[in-house]
Amino acid sequence: EKGNYRHFMQKEIFEQPTVVAQTLRSYIRQVDQSVALPQFDFDLSAITRVTIVACGTSYYAGMVAKYWFEQFARLPADIDFASEFRYRNPVLEPGGLALFISQSGETADTLAALRHCKDNGQTIAVVVNVPTSSMAREADLLLPTHAGPEIGVASTKAFTCQLAVLAALAAHLAVKRGRMDRAEEADVVAHLLETPASLNAALRHDDEIAAMAHLIAPARDVLYLGRGQDYPLALEGALKLKEISYIHAEGYASGEMKHGPIALIDEAVPVIVIAPSGPLFEKTVSNMQEVRARGGKIVLISDREGLDEAGEGCLATIEMPSVHPLIAPLVYAIPVQLLAYHVACVKGTDVDQPRNLAKSVTVE
Ligand code: M6R
Repeated sequence: EKGNYRHFMQKEIFEQPTVVAQTLRSYIRQVDQSVALPQFDFDLSAITRVTIVACGTSYYAGMVAKYWFEQFARLPADIDFASEFRYRNPVLEPGGLALFISQSGETADTLAALRHCKDNGQTIAVVVNVPTSSMAREADLLLPTHAGPEIGVASTKAFTCQLAVLAALAAHLAVKRGRMDRAEEADVVAHLLETPASLNAALRHDDEIAAMAHLIAPARDVLYLGRGQDYPLALEGALKLKEISYIHAEGYASGEMKHGPIALIDEAVPVIVIAPSGPLFEKTVSNMQEVRARGGKIVLISDREGLDEAGEGCLATIEMPSVHPLIAPLVYAIPVQLLAYHVACVKGTDVDQPRNLAKSVTVE
C-alpha cells in the first residue's frame, strides 16, 4: 500500500531512515558497540581477496564497498558487472571471497556468476533483500538487508540498506585483519548509528528539490560528477534519472571530465556535483570552474563547509548534514533519488513502472 504517498518510489525513499536503522540493528551488538555478522563456519581473516559482482544499482553499492574494503581492511577488491564477469575468465584463487549484491536475489547474470564462483572454489557471500531467493539459498554467508519489499522498479531503499550492510562488513573485515582496534570499531559503530538521523536531515530538503526539478526537467542531457567513494553516487544519480525520467544522463569521475565529456558542456547541460567537503574538495572545485568557464550550470550537493567555499554562482545548492565519510554515500543517495523522482513527476512519466524495464531481470 502506498499510504499517503503518490508513488511506491516516493514511499520507499521516505522509508530509508527506518529500514536502514532496522538493517543496522541486526549487524551491531549493542552491549559492546561491535559489528556482528551472522554465524558461519569459515575464517574471514584468511580471506586474501574479494571479488564483488552485481548489476545496476547493486553494482554501484559494490563500487562503494570496494573503496571501503581497501581503505579500512586493506583487502584487495575487484568488481565486475555480472554480465561481464564469467566471460573474462577471471583468476579465482583459493582463499577468495566472492561477494554478490542483489535486491531480488534472482538477477540471472548475478546468479550465473555466483554459480561460476562456487564451481571455482570461492566462498560465497551474498547481500540480498529477498531472504527466500535463489542467491540467499546458495550462499555460504548470507547477509540480509532488511529493506522490506521494494515495489518501485527504481531501487532506492534496497541500495542504502546494501550500503549499511557493506559498511558493517568492511568494519568487521578490518577488525579481523588487525587493521582496526576495538576503539576504532566502536567509533565506526557510533557513526553508523547516526545514519538514520542524517538520512532524515537529508529528506527535509524534499520541497526544495521538488522546486529545483523544474530547472532540470527541460534538459536533454545531465552530467553527474563525483570523486572517490562519491563517484559511484554520480553513476547512481545518472542511472536513476535515465531510468525514470528518460533524460539522458551520465555519471563521471570528476577528474575525468576534462578528458572528453567537457566537450558537451554548455548552458543547456546541468551538471550535478556530489561533493562532501574533504581532502579532495579543492580538486572538485577546480573541475567546477572548468564547467563554469563553459557556461555550464552547476547544482552542488555538499555540506555547509563545501557550500561556503564553492556554492556561489551555482544554479542551485543542496545542503547535506556534515557526516563521517563512511556514511556519506548513504546520505548523499537521498538527494539524487529525490531529484530523479521529482524530475520524473514534472515530466509525467510512469515513476513506478518505467518503460522497457522489469523489477527483476531474469534473462541473461
Ligand atoms: O535485484 P538486483 O539488485 O540484482 O537488480 C539489479 C538491477 O537490475 C537493478 O539495480 C536496476 O539497475 C534498478 N532498476 C536500478 O534502479
